[in-house]
Amino acid sequence: MKITIAIDGYSSTGKSTVAKQLADWLEYIYVDTGAMYRAVTLYTMRKGWVSDGFFDKESLIRHLEDIQISFKRNTSSGKAEVCLNGENVENQIRTLEVSSYVSPIATVSEVRAKLVEQQQRMGEEKGIVMDGRDIGTVVFPNAELKIFMTASAEERANRRYHELRERGDDVSYKSVLSNVIERDRIDTTRKDSPLIKADDAIEIDNTETNVEDQFHTILQLAKDRIAGRI
Ligand code: DC
Repeated sequence: MKITIAIDGYSSTGKSTVAKQLADWLEYIYVDTGAMYRAVTLYTMRKGWVSDGFFDKESLIRHLEDIQISFKRNTSSGKAEVCLNGENVENQIRTLEVSSYVSPIATVSEVRAKLVEQQQRMGEEKGIVMDGRDIGTVVFPNAELKIFMTASAEERANRRYHELRERGDDVSYKSVLSNVIERDRIDTTRKDSPLIKADDAIEIDNTETNVEDQFHTILQLAKDRIAGRI
């Protein structure tokens, strides 16, 4: 039996790492929904509809039809990379500038409705691991396994800071920490589909857990669900 696995949680809690590990192990499809919101953000930035922390919501809503998001498998890493109107933008969507606009843009209900519909279509056949903020609450409220990941803001900023520095981005720890805190605030307080733990989600705090141990814990939960044990 194939199941649906929803992984939600705060930014930089390692959701995508564990989601990808699980999908590889189970031979399921993996979908990074944050990448979809980031691609919409990149589109908005390229159109010149952002400045000084604000964005032109009306123009974005009017042109939503022009935005096509898809995924293409990278044959060397095995990772599904996000494409914006056919162009692979996996690298361009990971900058701090995209990170600073993505949470406000993800509050727009019209954007959410478009992406949620596409996500639900991708999961129609089950056999999917999807990570995001509203997967267990809105996209797949009937998912057989729901995980909610947390970690301290400092530890998350530390991880993101090292990732960005390794890519060659000249960012300060302070700016990354304030971005993490600000995104938490926007993601948890927005009106439409705020980040909250679903009642039936299992919470995992990985401030001090290593990636390998965490993977084995979640894999065991998935195996139990697949076998119908819990
Ligand atoms: O997972 P991430 O950091 O790449 O996500 C980027 C932003 O997108 C995040 O700050 C909130 C938004 N997001 C969302 O609102 N709903 C999702 N399912 C996934 C991401």
